[in-house]
Amino acid sequence: MKPKLETLAIHAGSEIDAATAAVTSPIHLSTTFERNADGSFPHGYIYTRSHNPNRAALEQCITALEGGEASAAFSSGSAAASAVFRALEPGDHAIIPDDMYWGIRKLLKQVFVPWGLELSEVDMSKLDEVKAHIKANTRLVWIETPSNPMLKITDIAGVVKLAKSVGAKVACDNTWTPPGMQPVFALGADMVMHASTKYLAGHSDVLGGTLTSREADAFWERIVFVQKNEGAVPSPFDCWLTLRGIKTLPYRMRGHVENAEAIAHFLAEHPKVERVAYPGLKSHPNHEVAKEQMSSFGAMLSVLLKGGEGAAMEVAAALKLFTRATSLGGVESLIEHRASIEGPDSKTPKNLLRVSVGLEHKDDLIADLEQALNKV
Ligand SMILES: Cc1ncc(COP(=O)(O)O)c(C=O)c1O
Repeated sequence: MKPKLETLAIHAGSEIDAATAAVTSPIHLSTTFERNADGSFPHGYIYTRSHNPNRAALEQCITALEGGEASAAFSSGSAAASAVFRALEPGDHAIIPDDMYWGIRKLLKQVFVPWGLELSEVDMSKLDEVKAHIKANTRLVWIETPSNPMLKITDIAGVVKLAKSVGAKVACDNTWTPPGMQPVFALGADMVMHASTKYLAGHSDVLGGTLTSREADAFWERIVFVQKNEGAVPSPFDCWLTLRGIKTLPYRMRGHVENAEAIAHFLAEHPKVERVAYPGLKSHPNHEVAKEQMSSFGAMLSVLLKGGEGAAMEVAAALKLFTRATSLGGVESLIEHRASIEGPDSKTPKNLLRVSVGLEHKDDLIADLEQALNKV
């Protein structure tokens, strides 16, 4: 029997240290590794930019959790995403969602497009729109579902079918849906990316990114080449912290999701709330697709306030337990006025607050939201 997620999260990539019998793995800071007299490398490690034992352990673990053939760890989620686009050729066409993590979209537009990437931004919650943008030179479709910050849902299997008609790869940014929540390989996608900064590491104290590929094919080899030769890799300590975080990931996610569902329902019924974007609510336009492809609806939600930007700012200011800060996926609840961090080009509604629901007790979180909403 294949071990279940909880078991893999604790054991995959973790071994008793052969040299000392330490149960918790040591951190290997050495940048270089000794050769044998015959020139060979007895443990397969040469130089830490290309290989490091802590990174290998993290990559082994994430491969086991996602179920692909190989993984590569990076120094940030953005560096991981960048490596995928770097593996394309100038003149290749990529499709991205019209709602997605703004930092990656900015990077693509400001750096990759001037270098020859052809880019289309598409409402991926509508398969017809994706179909209309598929071209003979489409090489990559980048999915983010639920999307950041509007929680739009993409039918992954539907997009895969369209992409495959021209031989394009499909990569999913699964940062908001940690392993076990959205099986993108089973739905036909080729690659899964995580900003491990978020739920995987889980404690808002380490930056990182991972990519996992269903097949270790030629496209994957190009990505690994970029990883090893550019060196945007996590430090051994970053890998160790992330692997430690992953050990509790399945249990943390249960708490995150339970709290998020309760908060989404509370907010959806509140008279001062215009709309809650959360795929677990029946009112979500793609609730049925989400139900089909997700085993739970995640712990991120956005709330749009009646009373515009002023009301949103007042609620954020009045909260005591929720911290006003960017990022997500840590044990503490965070709230953020997205439009102001995304800047003047942002299409995010000004009355929107994005919430990363943490692991405090849900009653305390709801009481905090209630007192803040009462002040508006
Ligand atoms: C969905 C998503 N993808 C990627 C990233 C980028 O991750 P990092 O900040 O580690 O580069 C983020 C960060 O907020 C995110 O929310």
